[in-house]
Amino acid sequence: MTDADADTVTQEFTDRCGSPPAGVWSAPGRVNLIGEHTDYNDGFVMPFALAQVVTVAAARRSDDRWRVTSLNQDAANGGETQEFGRDDLEPGMSGWQAYVAGIVWALTEAGHQVPGADLVLTSDVPVGAGLSSSAALECATLTALADLGDLDIDPLERAKLARRCENEFVGAPTGLMDQAASTLCQVGQALFFDCRTFETEQVHLALDEAGLELLVLDTQTPHALVDSEYADRRRSCEEAARLLGVPALRDVTDVDAALASLPDPEMQRRVRHVVTENARVLAAAAVLREDRITDLAPLLDASHASMRDDFEITVPTVDLAVATAKEAGALGARMTGGGFGGCIIALVGAGTADAVAARVGAAFEAAGYGPPSHFVGLPSAGARRLR
Ligand code: GLA
Repeated sequence: MTDADADTVTQEFTDRCGSPPAGVWSAPGRVNLIGEHTDYNDGFVMPFALAQVVTVAAARRSDDRWRVTSLNQDAANGGETQEFGRDDLEPGMSGWQAYVAGIVWALTEAGHQVPGADLVLTSDVPVGAGLSSSAALECATLTALADLGDLDIDPLERAKLARRCENEFVGAPTGLMDQAASTLCQVGQALFFDCRTFETEQVHLALDEAGLELLVLDTQTPHALVDSEYADRRRSCEEAARLLGVPALRDVTDVDAALASLPDPEMQRRVRHVVTENARVLAAAAVLREDRITDLAPLLDASHASMRDDFEITVPTVDLAVATAKEAGALGARMTGGGFGGCIIALVGAGTADAVAARVGAAFEAAGYGPPSHFVGLPSAGARRLR
């Protein structure tokens, strides 16, 4: 899709601004293979970048203003344009433009000279599906502005700045996974990422060679309550770490002793999820390093059960999708992303994703749910300049 989207934003930019853009950049959404709600507990995650991206054409302006058009907003009327200057950069700004303004803000706060710019963007990352469309927007904007301003910022630092935009400007208390995935992932690889030390390892995701593919199925369940539930889970983990006397749940080594010392059964379940999920990410990394990709399957299943029973972040549509995918022959399946709706991933035989998705569609219809959508997830490149 990238080439066609790059042509579209180039043409739209030229039509609107009267001259061609200085360049075109893109940044991807992500699927998280395993490691959910571990990032803000200083733990481990293993996402890969999707082929679905935000694509942005941009050029410098001579003043200190940013004029940005999203072709996805009000698409019937050719997109929506927002303009802001330095004085408008107030944390808490609402709307899609907050993700763009927040990047200008975060770069400026970090001492970078951000040039004024015109930007035209489009996205094929599904929104509200737990595939990090917002991180893709942040990282695409940041990549474009960093190049336009000749800013020397390495990919990890870019991810941290984009997270700062998300946490402090937009106001969502997320971890670093999504932005790290969008800036650091590479084609054909999953990213094994240590959220405390920021160590990264590219692990080959040899789906093809193993005769497998990864179905990504969007349950189309609206993310009601997602923000408050996310913040609630995060608070509960931080409180548990405090009670256990460790810097973060990453540091819990003896899970049984830790659970025995916590008074509240709900908090015990939250801790058990995080500690066992970290162990599953380490196991998954070992499995991929050794090219035993089918051994991922039981880890995916266990991760889902843990999110459902211990962390309690799944919803009935998601659980039905996972159970049905398994019945239809998936080797392993789990919800991916922050939870309370969104997508599941399923490890399935090559060429069978459509059939598995059709079975889930039939089960949804029988249960009175709306139709899901799906695609095959292809491990793709991180944020980059396209032209
Ligand atoms: C969202 C957040 C991430 C991470 C996941 C859950 O995607 O943005 O930081 O916490 O949820 O793993």
